[in-house]
Amino acid sequence: MSDVPQLNRRPEWAALEEHRARDLREPSLRELFAADPGRAERYVVHVGDLRIDYSKHLVTDETLRLLRELAAATDVFGLREAMFRGERINTTEDRAVLHTALRAPREAVIETGGRNVVPGVHAVLDRMADFADRVRSGAWTGHTGKRIRNVVNIGIGGSDLGPAMAYEALRAYTDRSLTVRFVSNVDGADLHEAVRDLDPAETLFIVASKTFTTIETITNATAARAWLLAGLDGDDKAVARHFVALSTNAEKVAGFGIDPANMFEFWDWVGGRYSYDSAIGLSLMIAIGPDRFREMLDGFRIVDEHFRTAPAEANAPLILGLLGIWYTNFFGAQSHAVLPYSHHLSKFPAYLQQLDMESNGKSVQRDGTPVGWQTGPVVWGTPGTNGQHAYYQLIHQGTKLIPADFIGFARPAGELSEDLRAQHDLLMANFFAQTQALAFGKTPEEVRAEGVPEELVPHRTFQGNRPTTTVLARELTPSVLGQLVALYEHKVFVQGAVWNIDSFDQWGVELGKVLAKRVEPALTEGADVPGLDPSTTALVAAYRSLRNT
Ligand code: F6P
Repeated sequence: MSDVPQLNRRPEWAALEEHRARDLREPSLRELFAADPGRAERYVVHVGDLRIDYSKHLVTDETLRLLRELAAATDVFGLREAMFRGERINTTEDRAVLHTALRAPREAVIETGGRNVVPGVHAVLDRMADFADRVRSGAWTGHTGKRIRNVVNIGIGGSDLGPAMAYEALRAYTDRSLTVRFVSNVDGADLHEAVRDLDPAETLFIVASKTFTTIETITNATAARAWLLAGLDGDDKAVARHFVALSTNAEKVAGFGIDPANMFEFWDWVGGRYSYDSAIGLSLMIAIGPDRFREMLDGFRIVDEHFRTAPAEANAPLILGLLGIWYTNFFGAQSHAVLPYSHHLSKFPAYLQQLDMESNGKSVQRDGTPVGWQTGPVVWGTPGTNGQHAYYQLIHQGTKLIPADFIGFARPAGELSEDLRAQHDLLMANFFAQTQALAFGKTPEEVRAEGVPEELVPHRTFQGNRPTTTVLARELTPSVLGQLVALYEHKVFVQGAVWNIDSFDQWGVELGKVLAKRVEPALTEGADVPGLDPSTTALVAAYRSLRNT
């Protein structure tokens, strides 16, 4: 048993419980605004280009003060410094956590294990830039001398979600003459659909895998190589012009048959879900070009600096992290919605699912003892306004409290026609209307005043008091995307620090992988699998008989 006081035994925790019971038993945003109209200006934090409004939360100055005290008591800032300093804060894997070094300026010195990692980061960025420029200009050609027109990233989890999300987010900045696709699923249909209309002679595969052992990725990469060679007369030499690797594992890359000269390296102190600003972002860099990629890194850096130096009262990741703790631990909220009012951010919630849920989906503390409190929420969402016509009903009138982040922009990104640009105000009218409706609802009196028959009044009443954060920026640029991602990275960090869990391992994904390896022979060869439970044995038998009829 560690001598760290248990989180829910701390006086700061008790103070929050008491405050909730005493002052915010049935919080009303109408009343909170009536009592303190200034909160609309005061509960706003600016970081980089982001204006983050948290006035529509079920909090008062006292709540925020008590939450900051909880953060101080759990030494969030001490752990933050340890992370930035390169200490091995990922204790179960005995690794440093240095994704912030991926966007450090060239002259910075960040050491881990006695070595400055920054020169290596920039050496890889320079190599990536050189390669990306050659692909974009046509100087890098395929095996037959044809120009590369298609880029297919093969990876999964952090080696897919980040670049795939960012490619969509920055579509307006991409070279439209290139086709860029992402293959992740071990379902052969994914690769099949991605390549069926492509010419192998014009296609570059980027095999992205930190470990280079991930079965889905290696299987898809092997199938992609077969597809390529089938289209190029089986000439093995073609692989060198059509395959590059992004990995920490040079040996496995060479073993797969990719020339280590075509490997872009990263390091074990970069977690998979924190990696798309490393070599893992090569597909994105080819799509948007090295200058835009560096602008994105600058955006990350703005928020890193902010997180490291802004006082607690104005520290955006800290505030967002603590608000999440308020709802998770003191209101019993189980989920958190992320609702971008931007088509380009359509993959952002899926990206955040890995970032948040793989990081904070933990039930033991750093010392291995069980947590006695709730940890990471279920993170979900899709772009507005689509969600409005699907699941917003439940957020507005259901029985669950679902805190939500609304992310929107004052101007559309890219080369839209005048007509399409004009639609942007309608999109954003929905954005503002929804957060108002969620916060302030509609009272029975207001419903009656509209002449609604009495029996329908309860159905048409909106309780309100559904908390939201509004993140607003001028436009979704590469820098703004970097700022947004870093904001969430550090928010997740804050929560993991308070909950006293290791946010940087992911042992929970291992058991399923091991069992899948054990089950596979039973499906393909009909072998008996020792140790299968009766339910799974029956399912496997049913599968086999369906498969063979
Ligand atoms: O299985 C989970 C995981 O390890 C993620 O953390 C990671 O992003 C993903 O698999 C892919 O791993 P790799 O990049 O090593 O192929």
